[in-house]
Amino acid sequence: MFDCIRDIERTSGDVGCGKQREPQRPRFAFIAHALLLCGLFGLLSTPLHAAQLTLVYTGNLDGELEPCGCSAGGDLGGIKRQVHMLDRLRAKTPDLIALSTGGLIISEMPQDRLKSAFILSGASALGFDAIGVQGRDLGFGAAFLKDVELPWVASNLHGVAHVATERIITRGALRLAFLQWLAPDTAAASAETTLDADSKPLAQRLHTLKQQGVLTAVGTTLTLEQTRAILPLNDIDILLIKSKYEVYGEPQKVANTLVLQPGSRGMRLAQILLTLDEHGAITKWQHEVIPLPKEIGDAPRMEKWYADYNERVKADYQARVELRKKLTERASPYAGAKVCKDCHAQEYAVWEASKHAHAFEALETVNKAFDPECLACHTVGFENDGFVDSAMTKHLQHVQCENCHGAAKAHVASNGKARTQHHGWSRTQVCAQCHNQKRSPDFDLEKRWPQVAHGKLREPLKIQSNQ
Ligand code: HEC
Ligand code: HEC
Ligand code: HEC
Ligand code: HEC
Repeated sequence: MFDCIRDIERTSGDVGCGKQREPQRPRFAFIAHALLLCGLFGLLSTPLHAAQLTLVYTGNLDGELEPCGCSAGGDLGGIKRQVHMLDRLRAKTPDLIALSTGGLIISEMPQDRLKSAFILSGASALGFDAIGVQGRDLGFGAAFLKDVELPWVASNLHGVAHVATERIITRGALRLAFLQWLAPDTAAASAETTLDADSKPLAQRLHTLKQQGVLTAVGTTLTLEQTRAILPLNDIDILLIKSKYEVYGEPQKVANTLVLQPGSRGMRLAQILLTLDEHGAITKWQHEVIPLPKEIGDAPRMEKWYADYNERVKADYQARVELRKKLTERASPYAGAKVCKDCHAQEYAVWEASKHAHAFEALETVNKAFDPECLACHTVGFENDGFVDSAMTKHLQHVQCENCHGAAKAHVASNGKARTQHHGWSRTQVCAQCHNQKRSPDFDLEKRWPQVAHGKLREPLKIQSNQ
């Protein structure tokens, strides 16, 4: 039932591979028989022997150092588990080649800089053979990538010493070249770097490599169609296209090119066992997607790295608390749930019995009550003149009335005459602030609202307003 070996000729319409499952025993072995043949026909000097090769590949990590654990369904991935899984795969297949199409880091919040630095050092423990550069990897400038030595590749980016235009990976007689096309419109251009928008040099280089008997792999953030529009596929053996959201795509053969589509956010790894014929053409493959749930466990060798990360996050948080205190003392627009109780006893009772009233404890349980990234949704008004720390703003711990209704001090002061800040918001809009795909993938308003229902809609919601 796990037999997913297919022939090139019989790929189309064949389903059933690449489902999430525990890894099978991978193999990297030159076929003895093929070696014998090569011995016999050595004079023909075929550049490649018939061989098998195991590739492990991933796509965008998107700044996901670890999964938050907000929901069981989304609790997949993270660097500690990736390292653990790769260690295990390498124990079975020491010669596997590990490729990433990049997109490791993001630069959206102030905290992302620290997190990104740790992601890069974490990625070095993964031991990739090559990592493509995506535009987002340049979010803090190309120099940011210099601090940790990683096998970065961007074939059309010039002038960055630590980013190569290609990496040739050798395993026995087999040579695999990894090249990455960095889409010019997504990349952060800068004074010291030049990004070639012309794909012809890359196409030429691929042609040369192919003629030298090298197996070619190209990574990109383009779709298959977009890639075909700028690069001929005939000199590409393996094309890694734009990541699919979270889940891996099925491998497909397009003419002689094997097209792989990694999943994003580092929730899974994929391993593909390739069988090559004596001309170096891929004749068969066996693909498996390896989800990374909690049960995979963390790599013990990453413990110190993770403790260091948390220590730095905590230190940064504490340093910023002082500044925040001043801002908050000035004028916090939040009142806290207890104040609402006087006039809204019924609503208060519903809230108090809900999980929202314990959301801060959930962070304490996983030792994350200092991480700004988590406090954002597990307290009221964090970074927004609300929650600062537990000593000063204990009354703003947890998910409260004002997370959903908005700051309501003015409402209280006016004895309920002034509308709450989010008055007029639809329920969908209210919940989506936190119950998004990333944190709460199975969220269903119809099922969840009754668990917290109050106000005029205390009765279970039947028809969802389309507002
Ligand atoms: C002093 C009494 C009082 C307090 C305290 C009070 N409210 Fe109200 N609230 C009212 C009254 C009265 C109304 C009805 C206003 C109306 O229907 O015109 C109301 C209506 C509301 C509404 C529906 C209308 C709107 O503005 O969206 C919400 C939501 C609400 N309150 C939330 C809160 C929250 C949250 C708190 C605590 C931070 C709070 N209230 C504290 C008196 C109060
Ligand atoms: C975008 C908002 C958001 C952010 C940011 C967020 N969470 Fe959550 N968290 C949620 C939501 C929503 C739930 C409830 C999920 C559900 O029940 O579907 C939740 C639930 C949880 C739970 C409870 C799980 C349980 O079994 O009861 C834990 C623990 C948790 N989050 C930890 C974290 C940590 C750690 C971080 C930071 C790395 C974090 N959260 C960041 C929204 C968020
Ligand atoms: C998880 C989000 C959430 C929390 C927490 C929450 N509410 Fe609400 N509340 C809503 C939504 C959504 C509605 C319904 C709005 C609508 O669609 O009519 C509502 C309705 C109300 C209404 C009635 C408004 C009306 O016109 O019928 C009042 C009053 C109210 N909430 C007060 C509170 C108070 C007080 C608390 C805290 C003790 C609280 N809410 C906590 C989301 C929340
Ligand atoms: C400010 C962020 C935030 C908003 C807004 C929010 N939630 Fe939540 N919700 C959470 C967090 C965090 C948890 C997890 C609490 C825990 O387990 O400790 C949670 C848990 C829940 C749970 C309990 C799930 C369980 O496993 O029992 C329900 C039900 C729920 N939310 C419904 C809603 C609904 C409905 C809305 C919109 C009306 C909403 N929430 C808005 C953050 C939020």
